Amino acid sequence: MTKTIRVGVPGASHDVVIGYDILQYLPRALRRVGVGPTIGVVTDSTVARTWLGPLRRALEASGHSVIPVVLRPGERRKTLQTVGSVCGRLLRAGVGRDGCILALGGGVIGDLAGFVAATYQRGIPVVQVPTTLLAQVDSALGGKVGVNHALGKNMIGAFHQPTLVWSDTACLRTLPRRELIGGLGEVVKYGIISDRRLFEWLESNLDRVFALSAAGLRFVVERSASIKARVVAADEREHGLRVILNHGHTVGHALEAAAGYGRLRHGEAVLLGMRIEAQIAAWMGLLSEEHRRRIVGLIDRVPVAAPRLSLARVLGHMGRDKKNRRGVMRFVLATAIGRVQVVERVDPALIADAIRASVRTRG
Ligand code: NAD
Ligand code: GLY
Repeated sequence: MTKTIRVGVPGASHDVVIGYDILQYLPRALRRVGVGPTIGVVTDSTVARTWLGPLRRALEASGHSVIPVVLRPGERRKTLQTVGSVCGRLLRAGVGRDGCILALGGGVIGDLAGFVAATYQRGIPVVQVPTTLLAQVDSALGGKVGVNHALGKNMIGAFHQPTLVWSDTACLRTLPRRELIGGLGEVVKYGIISDRRLFEWLESNLDRVFALSAAGLRFVVERSASIKARVVAADEREHGLRVILNHGHTVGHALEAAAGYGRLRHGEAVLLGMRIEAQIAAWMGLLSEEHRRRIVGLIDRVPVAAPRLSLARVLGHMGRDKKNRRGVMRFVLATAIGRVQVVERVDPALIADAIRASVRTRG
């Protein structure tokens, strides 16, 4: 049984289909959305080991010509240089404007392959087939695609909505625990920003997610994807509401970049970012002590080992955050479980103290 969530983006509405063991049915869905015969499947070597074979067989059996592009895994590959080499591979294989990119993997592959699709021959369709919890609940939805720059996370990118998102929760069976934790960071985020019931469910059922319970995973993927779809449909280009999806990210992105890409998973950085931002909100009198304690309590049940970080580097990265306006940092702070508010002009000393209270720093 599958669940379909419609993302109602003007001019680019599409479905997110969620189900267990559904890769084999993807070709039928591709026909329905009019995807052409040639598909560049961008993936990484870890994902390819288990999931490329079955997908490729299903696609070829239904008459598609598949160009596999298998990259080395990891955040450090999310660069313009990799974009160039993927484009080279597609050009050499003769993929034209009637071709399509299929991103099979986690958020790194989804962001990178999506950016290739946004720019290759001025744009071709992309189908997102997310294989990590993080990608199924967040990155594969919403059309933000891009790559990192040495000076900042996701600094080069585009909006390019997928033609279809196909989330097979069976893929999560092979996910290492650390990657599950990364995904949980974004799930906890949805609870904090807009879904008190989801937050309470996590407080009671976190173990079911760690145990890879099929029903538990399906619940969190469906619930999270529904929230993201609603927010993106209301504000695709982040002129307003969509900024709430960046809760925990003002600090989180800076921690991730300061640690050096790949050392701290994105979702791990977001967990720490939300912990720190809850402290900032409480110190500013925006969040009650009871809700701060519950937020921190849930986050601390999801183990994250942060390296020692240079405080100056973290603050430097925060100064270049994409949400900043006229050089002023913007935070999306929790005001209660299920509610957030955009806040500017936070005392830098308070930010530094909150960071020091959650991660080991130097400098
Ligand atoms: P990832 O893509 O690096 O995947 C994590 C690891 O899991 C990789 O080593 C991968 O090979 C492996 N893996 C993937 N699927 C697997 C499976 N089914 N079984 C076993 N191993 C598997 O990391 P991620 O956490 O999925 O994504 C993080 C990226 O997503 C970051 O670059 C972040 O910036 C981006 N992101 C983007 C958005 C967006 O809106 N576009 C939102 C959130 C995060
Ligand atoms: N992950 C933030 C967004 O999609 O807007």
